[in-house]
Amino acid sequence: TVLPELLEKGSYDVVVTCGPEIMMRGVAKIAKEHGIPCEVSLEKRMACGLGACLSCSIDTTDGQRKKVCKDGPVFPAEEVFA
Ligand code: FES
Repeated sequence: TVLPELLEKGSYDVVVTCGPEIMMRGVAKIAKEHGIPCEVSLEKRMACGLGACLSCSIDTTDGQRKKVCKDGPVFPAEEVFA
């Protein structure tokens, strides 16, 4: 793929990704392998968008429950992908 080559040739402070979760997981893994922080923008079904209904809840890697609508939608990759 293109991303490992880019990260090896360039000088990047952070990788930011959005899109399908399986792709973001792959991007986050490659960024981690290159020692570059990665931010991911999550997509979840949102009923209220205000933090009230919990329909967008996710479990973080440290065992917390967060709301994509209110706490995100952008999270550090290591916080949401194991
Ligand atoms: S959409 Fe209702 S809590 Fe996030």
